[in-house]
This record gives sequence, C-alpha cells and structure tokens, in this order.
Amino acid sequence: MDDIVFGGMNGGGQIALVTGASSGTGADLALALAVDGYHVALLGRRAEALKEVAERVKQLGSAACTLVCDLQDEEAVAASMKTFLKWSGDRIDLLVNVAGIPGPVGVPVGELAVTDFDAVMATNLRGPFLTMSHLLPVMCKLGRGRVINIGGNHGMRGRAGRSSYSASKWALRGLTRSAALEVGRYGVTVNYIAPGPIAVDRMRAGWEKRAEDEGVDVQTSIDRYITEMGAVLRRPSETADVVEMVRFLAGDGGRNITGQELVVDGGVIV
Ligand SMILES: NC(=O)c1ccc[n+]([C@@H]2O[C@H](COP(=O)([O-])OP(=O)(O)OC[C@H]3O[C@@H](n4cnc5c(N)ncnc54)[C@H](OP(=O)(O)O)[C@@H]3O)[C@@H](O)[C@H]2O)c1
Repeated sequence: MDDIVFGGMNGGGQIALVTGASSGTGADLALALAVDGYHVALLGRRAEALKEVAERVKQLGSAACTLVCDLQDEEAVAASMKTFLKWSGDRIDLLVNVAGIPGPVGVPVGELAVTDFDAVMATNLRGPFLTMSHLLPVMCKLGRGRVINIGGNHGMRGRAGRSSYSASKWALRGLTRSAALEVGRYGVTVNYIAPGPIAVDRMRAGWEKRAEDEGVDVQTSIDRYITEMGAVLRRPSETADVVEMVRFLAGDGGRNITGQELVVDGGVIV
C-alpha cells in the first residue's frame, strides 16, 4: 500500500474525499477544498501526482491522505476506503466522485471494442458506485453528508462516436437520483454536476493539436470547438466553474438540494 498521510488532522475541519485528484478538475477541487478548511483524501492511480497535490494541500494548512487506487478494481477500492476511514476516524462530510475517462472518441457502436466499453463503465459508473456503497452508510450513520458526482453534459444527450462515455454519464444520473431517494431521510444529499468542455491539460493538448493540424492559432481552435459544441456563452469551462458549483452544493446553499443535475457547460444543454 502506497498511501501516505500528510500533516496532522488538527481536531476541527470537515473531511472530504475527492477521486481523480491527481490532475485536472479533481486536483484543483482538492486545493480549493483545502482553502475552505477541509482535510482532503486524494484518490487516483498515480502516486507521485497525488503526492504533489497532497503537499500543496498541506501547505494550505489542511491534512491530506493519498489513496493510490484503481477504481476499476473492487478490492483495491475496498482497501482504500478502509484506509480512508481509519485516517478520518470514521468521519466524512463530502465525497466528490471526479475520476473519469473519456473512452474512445469517434468510434461508432458497431466498431466499439467491448473492453473499451467496459473500461469506461467500470471507471465512470462502477467507480462512483463503489465509493458510494462504502461511504453512504457512514454518512447515514453520522446523519449528514454530501455526495457530488461529476458527470458530463454528454450524459444529458446522445453523442455520436462517444456512446460508452455518454452511456456511463447518463447512467450515473440514475445512480445519483436513486441514491438521493435512499439517503435523504438521513440528511444526506446526492447530486450530479454536468460540465461541458473544461480547459484542463488533456483538453488543451487536443486543442493545440487541432490548431497545428488546421494551421490556426490555439484560440481559434478553441473557438471552433466551442462553436461546434454549441455553447451559447462561447467559452469553455475552467476547472473553477466546476469547483464553484461543488462549493455551492457542499455549502449551506446546497442543504435542501438533492437528486439534481446541475449543468455547467456554457449553455450547450438548454
Ligand atoms: N475535461 C472535460 O472537458 C470534461 C467535460 C465534461 C466532464 N468531464 C468529467 O470531469 C471529470 C474530471 O475530468 P478532467 O478532464 O478534469 O480529468 P483528467 O485531468 O483527465 O483526470 C482524470 C482523473 O481521473 C482519474 N482516474 C481515471 N481513471 C481512474 C481509475 N481507473 N482509477 C482511479 N482514478 C482514475 C485520474 O487519475 P490517475 O490517472 O492518477 O488514475 C485523474 O485524476 C471526469 O469525470 C470527466 O469525465 C470532463
């Protein structure tokens, strides 16, 4: 087990677990939660990347715990949840399931490999199911807790060539709503955020490549992509746009909101 504890948990402070915290939205969210005073557990497969985020969480004055775990591996998730609960003293205030993979792009259903389909479902749907199955009972026992699942606006619509991704994010809505109905009586909320394109390193790399291929500058490449997506606000999301929605749902503003899908996509799904 590669898990490491960074810094002491100084009595107070709420506790959050963020999956997919080694890069992109999850990493930025973990840091924002530390700014807000949360102690943060960071889950992902890349130990070094998690460690870097954990060091920054610690610099912000919060404790961090890294959980090196492949969400596709049921036993690994069980072991990580055990480690997490030991670290947190059986407490959790916020679970944000951010980890996800895009899967094949531009591949029609008839040509989609079963292994690719399974990998997307195992990460984007079964992963959140596994963390929720371990942590919702803990929240119910505590009589409070917030779960936020990061889906995608492709889970609000069909998308040619991206069926596994769309199906996984669409199914995550069903999981979210059903769980919300189950745990509401215990004071636990479960919600879903549907981002559109987020300007993370992975997406920027794609926009840069397209700019090169089409002989245009990167901003033109971004503008073209966003126009094709149909975002009326004509800009991609920043990780901060998703982070602020998490803050809202996790804070006082979200206390009477459950089973909902909040779309943060610049106006694609309207
Ligand atoms: N970026 C976008 O344009 C966009 C748009 C809509 C929705 N979303 C959704 O927003 C979420 C974050 O996306 P992002 O673009 O910010 O992420 P990203 O930079 O691509 O990072 C994905 C994260 O998921 C983790 N992850 C992937 N497979 C995993 C597995 N099997 N086990 C554990 N962790 C795993 C990765 O960690 P390791 O590599 O360390 O395992 C990484 O931390 C995803 O759910 C994505 O579907 C993104």
